[in-house]
Amino acid sequence: ERGGYPHFMLKEIHEQPRAVQETLAGRISEMEGDVRLDLGLNQWEIQTLQRVSILACGTSYHAGLLARYFFPRTAGLPVDVEVASEFQHMQLRPGTLLVAISQSGETADTLMALKKAKTCGVKSLAITNVVGSSITEIVDATIYTRCGPEIGVAATKTFVGQLVALFLLGIRLGRARNHLLPEQGRRLLGELSRLPGLIQAVLERRDQIREIAQRFSGADIYFFIGRDILYPIALEGALKMKEIAYIPAEGYPAGELKHGPLALITEGTPVVAFATCGEKIYSNMKEVRARGGEVIAFAAEGDREAAEITDTVVELPNTLPVFSAVLCTVGAQLLAYYTAQILGRDIDKPRNLAKSVTVE
Ligand code: M6R
Repeated sequence: ERGGYPHFMLKEIHEQPRAVQETLAGRISEMEGDVRLDLGLNQWEIQTLQRVSILACGTSYHAGLLARYFFPRTAGLPVDVEVASEFQHMQLRPGTLLVAISQSGETADTLMALKKAKTCGVKSLAITNVVGSSITEIVDATIYTRCGPEIGVAATKTFVGQLVALFLLGIRLGRARNHLLPEQGRRLLGELSRLPGLIQAVLERRDQIREIAQRFSGADIYFFIGRDILYPIALEGALKMKEIAYIPAEGYPAGELKHGPLALITEGTPVVAFATCGEKIYSNMKEVRARGGEVIAFAAEGDREAAEITDTVVELPNTLPVFSAVLCTVGAQLLAYYTAQILGRDIDKPRNLAKSVTVE
């Protein structure tokens, strides 16, 4: 049932090229540079939208954070993202599209927050992997991620499916609001279609990533840093490391390191830097090196600057920075997986956790 893999998590990590193909299937309209998705909104409602508010927990919340960077660019729409269990005071005004993200569609915190938010009378949309799950009964429309069942407690392929669903949603909103031109839509969608092959190329780096995991498996803390669209991926990388390897891990916006956490960087502290989105992170990587920290960089193929700062570079195929978020994610998943395996953790059923959290 694990298809020859020692754990469901590793199987599900390797299913990601296929999962992305499924999330995209039949939804791309190449000619118009547009996306086919039923959002439960008419053209006028989309054009008069003022903002998007997102509710989710855990890994799904990290997917929501990525939309906060993407939707303003593609659709000119500001995005608020709230951890569902903290949703108390957000007053949703007319013109808001409420988006709830939940792999299982059964997370109590998300369902309760969604019900409360709906009393403001706004339209709502769910992004979920489970057909007919409770969340789909509460909302006006659902985007399914179609990743197939995920058994491992740590979300992997469903997170990537959520990112791709959000990319599609951002492009759809942008095209419907005339914020994106057809050729801009075509460019984004053309690149998005390449993702399955690019993910496969990252999976092929598994031996190198396993060696890195081995080298730092005795670490007592890990840092993950990223800027812009890669900041949510830093949070997600740290969550994976905590969740399955039980190593304390902090995800930080790279520029924040110098505002406190740098005090924790000592000789040999591993700092994973996602370096595929802009040049500014190089100076943060240098700050780490100067304190004796070890930088593990995920950088684009041929990135000479990253290679000058550190010997430990995992090269990722070139793509648009926004889609490199998916490639960095796959690298971080493998790093956490191999670390947990080396440490002998119960990877598919980490201690104290359940796949679906149905209590508030
Ligand atoms: O099913 P959901 O997406 O609503 O679950 C939300 C979180 O419980 C979930 O993402 C959790 O953080 C995962 N174990 C992370 O790997």
